[in-house]
Amino acid sequence: MRAVEKHFGDLHVLKTINLTVHRGEVVVVIGPSGSGKSTLCRTINRLETIDSGEILVDGTPLPEEGKALAKLRADVGMVFQSFNLFAHKSVLDNVTLGPIKVRGMKSKEAKDHAMDLLRRVGVADQAAKLPAQLSGGQQQRVAIARALAMQPKVMLFDEPTSALDPEMINEVLDVMTELARSGMTMVVVTHEMGFARRAADRVVFMDQGEIVEEKDPETFFTAPESDRAKDFLGKILTH
Ligand SMILES: Nc1ncnc2c1ncn2[C@@H]1O[C@H](COP(=O)(O)OP(=O)(O)OP(=O)(O)O)[C@@H](O)[C@H]1O
Ligand SMILES: [Mg+2]
Repeated sequence: MRAVEKHFGDLHVLKTINLTVHRGEVVVVIGPSGSGKSTLCRTINRLETIDSGEILVDGTPLPEEGKALAKLRADVGMVFQSFNLFAHKSVLDNVTLGPIKVRGMKSKEAKDHAMDLLRRVGVADQAAKLPAQLSGGQQQRVAIARALAMQPKVMLFDEPTSALDPEMINEVLDVMTELARSGMTMVVVTHEMGFARRAADRVVFMDQGEIVEEKDPETFFTAPESDRAKDFLGKILTH
């Protein structure tokens, strides 16, 4: 992201954002509510447009529309807070649909690949069920498998565990940690500091639409530089 600016009306939500995520790098984005974390994620696969600046994925500027945009979206996997699976399709069909429709994969190959992914995230035994028949943690792991099925170049996670019951948070974080170790390029918005310490190469701290600080996790959590980061960490680490 180069000098990215974004407004919602009078509100300046992204202020001159410069951010490079290297191949295989895991970047955790944290910051107060309303600081622009979700907006930043959403601009990367163009769910939100930007006012000015530039966003490149693997060296290619984000396409404006059409086929090129669909292809870009397939290269950028996204997992949201709410597991937006297709409610009337089986778990397996949720995972095979994109590869068949967008990537033109043959049905048998898509199924085999989907089952491998469902195994990887630990829900292969749920493949024939509908999403509503799964727990929240299981659904979110299916959502991760579905995004991975498109063989994305980068995965974006926007608070993937914040809608989950506490006992289901770790099963999703474990899958994400494994993914990080496997070399996936990841941008993760999360308040899970354990995950950030364990899996992140870099922590990006945002406040009021700006990137205020970028550090390796150990340095960020033990010796934050800015008053804004100190204040934020003081609030989240004490409860
Ligand atoms: N579609 C929209 N229209 C107008 N304002 C918006 C829109 N989406 C977000 N905003 C505003 O932009 C700001 C940044 O929102 P954003 O969702 O990116 O914050 P966030 O850091 O993800 O917050 P949270 O931690 O609560 O998820 C907020 O003030 C929000 O109210
Ligand atoms: Mg958000």
